[in-house]
Amino acid sequence: MAATRDNKPHATGRVPAGDVTQRVGVEQMTARGLNIEELREKLIDAAGAEFTTYYYYTILRMHLAGKEDYKEICEDARLEDRSHFELITPRIYELGAGLPRDIRDFADRAGCPDAYLPDNPTAVDILTVLLEAERCAIRTWNEICDLTLGKDPRTYNLASRILQEEIEHEAWFIELLSMERDGVARPSGHFRRGTPGDAPHSKNLPFYVP
Ligand SMILES: [Fe+2]
Ligand SMILES: [Fe+2]
Repeated sequence: MAATRDNKPHATGRVPAGDVTQRVGVEQMTARGLNIEELREKLIDAAGAEFTTYYYYTILRMHLAGKEDYKEICEDARLEDRSHFELITPRIYELGAGLPRDIRDFADRAGCPDAYLPDNPTAVDILTVLLEAERCAIRTWNEICDLTLGKDPRTYNLASRILQEEIEHEAWFIELLSMERDGVARPSGHFRRGTPGDAPHSKNLPFYVP
């Protein structure tokens, strides 16, 4: 039925007019059956994984010394993880949560294992760490997509854009590891990003300009 001068069905709802302690942007998701508390916690864990992975990839990239092609691809994945952290963090606050005050707590609760430099940092061993880190990220963002599909279009949009890059990252490291370790071509379909940190799907400047 069309709205009329006297009937605007979305003008009011469960949250009282002027109430700043509740968010319609959250209440609408709850009404659609989303567990907000669970989503908040998973997003903080996921942001922690992006942040710590960005840190660890810095070290891993350094130790790909002499392998310029591997360094460049590791750098793209590293900078895109930073972009993922930046993209998802404002959403955590929008949902009424926030980052842990202590970065130690943040690192401990990261949703993926520490991507430590291997004891014997050969290219094969470093690429294996990178590959498994990407796989953890894919599982993470797929889960966020599952939780939010049809209930929280905004988080779903952000998570699915991050997921696209994580899937690309896995394909890159499969290609490199397969050839480096096994001598087998398993192409990723990738050539190169435009510039380091290009983040074609998760570019967040339009969303987050402090
Ligand atoms: Fe990431
Ligand atoms: Fe990644």
